[in-house]
Amino acid sequence: MTIRRKRTAVLISGRGSNMRALIARARDPSYPAEIVLVLSSRPDAAGLAFAKENKIACAVADHKIYAGREEFERSMQLLLELHRVELICLAGFMRMLTPWFVGQWQGRLLNIHPALLPAYRGLNTHARALADGVKIHGCTVHFVVPAMDEGPIIAQAAVAVLESDTPDSLAARVLLEEHMIYPAALACVARGDLRIEGNRVYINEPVVQPASLRVPFGG
Ligand code: GRF
Repeated sequence: MTIRRKRTAVLISGRGSNMRALIARARDPSYPAEIVLVLSSRPDAAGLAFAKENKIACAVADHKIYAGREEFERSMQLLLELHRVELICLAGFMRMLTPWFVGQWQGRLLNIHPALLPAYRGLNTHARALADGVKIHGCTVHFVVPAMDEGPIIAQAAVAVLESDTPDSLAARVLLEEHMIYPAALACVARGDLRIEGNRVYINEPVVQPASLRVPFGG
């Protein structure tokens, strides 16, 4: 059976390791999403080179050249329409989106956040988790709503916080989990294998279990 794969854009601003994980998974023709566009808010984003090498259309909407957020977003919207994009994955995209843009993509706009939401919204999540002395930390894929780092949660993964951890070492372990759950969550959304009720997401038949808990006790 041939499936119609959902045309997906990945929006980045920097390194793009989550973008790489999504591109890698979408190489499988049976994966329900194809990455048709990588759109960066910065011309110097390192992730752009990888996307180009992988023959994926790239575009830059340099936020600095626009008069304001609305103009910037209208330009992104045109690019997304030009590429007939159906789903968007924010992957280290460092611009706040307006309610107008979010409204255009309701239920079709995903984000990955490096913390177990609703804890640690915003920046510097790993350092803040360490400063609070939490024992478990992780990452979240969620639908985007106008409020920052809110919206129905699709998948989460947890890691144990080790006594030896620094923000960098913790970030590295969380990032490995990000690369697992983002492609799994996108697959569920692309297949339409879920429904949203209020703030809760119910997943019908996850092909890859999107919520993982990998806590090495005593580690
Ligand atoms: C990731 O930690 C992601 O959770 C956050 O920004 C970082 C982006 O990293 N939103 P990368 O560009 O995907 O490597």
